Amino acid sequence: MNVRSKIFAPLETPRLHLRSFGVDDKDALVAQLKDPLISKQLAFVPHPYDASHAEAWIKDCARNPPGKIVGCRFAIERREDGSFVGGLGLMPRERAFELGYWLDRRCWRQGYATEAVGAALAFGLSVLAMQRIVAFVFMGNPASTRVLARLGFAYRGLEDSTTQSDASRKVLRYEFVRPE
Ligand SMILES: CC(C)(COP(=O)(O)OP(=O)(O)OC[C@H]1O[C@@H](n2cnc3c(N)ncnc32)[C@H](O)[C@@H]1OP(=O)(O)O)[C@@H](O)C(=O)NCCC(=O)NCCS
Repeated sequence: MNVRSKIFAPLETPRLHLRSFGVDDKDALVAQLKDPLISKQLAFVPHPYDASHAEAWIKDCARNPPGKIVGCRFAIERREDGSFVGGLGLMPRERAFELGYWLDRRCWRQGYATEAVGAALAFGLSVLAMQRIVAFVFMGNPASTRVLARLGFAYRGLEDSTTQSDASRKVLRYEFVRPE
């Protein structure tokens, strides 16, 4: 967690509010990222995930280095009831930005990921002037590949995972290149 994000104004979608992470998100963040159905799909999540990881994540997200825009992370909140339901990030990698996201298991299959990631993608392109966005999906995650395909990401092939703990797993590379 040594790459830094910047704090931005919240983004609104019809059903979601994308905002900065805060200390009040800690318990729900632990519950979400302890869930093996979520964490096994996320290369950056330590196992087992506990409160100290959530605290470090929230602290890291709150850093706001002056002068340089390096990426963004958003907590996903449901507008209907104000509940914190997931997170996403667009962080620097390979002269591009790497997209990552998750949603609380109770909120799957309601179109929230497509809605949230679509808004963050538009923000990254228009406000942060991102040129190329990459996403890596472990094999066997059709929900995630569907989200990316719906948003216009192109499949670029199968690769070895670059995270040490997942070295034996293959990832599907997706890319989105800013239209001319
Ligand atoms: C990936 C994830 C964020 C998708 O969230 P979601 O809100 O359920 O996604 P959506 O409701 O927007 O669905 C997107 C599409 O995937 C499809 N889909 C969802 N779950 C699916 C499944 N298990 N199998 C096949 N398709 C699925 C939906 O039907 C939808 O397709 P459609 O628009 O053609 O109907 C969620 O499953 C998750 O948090 N998974 C664990 C973490 C993860 O995988 N993160 C991504 C790492 S690359």
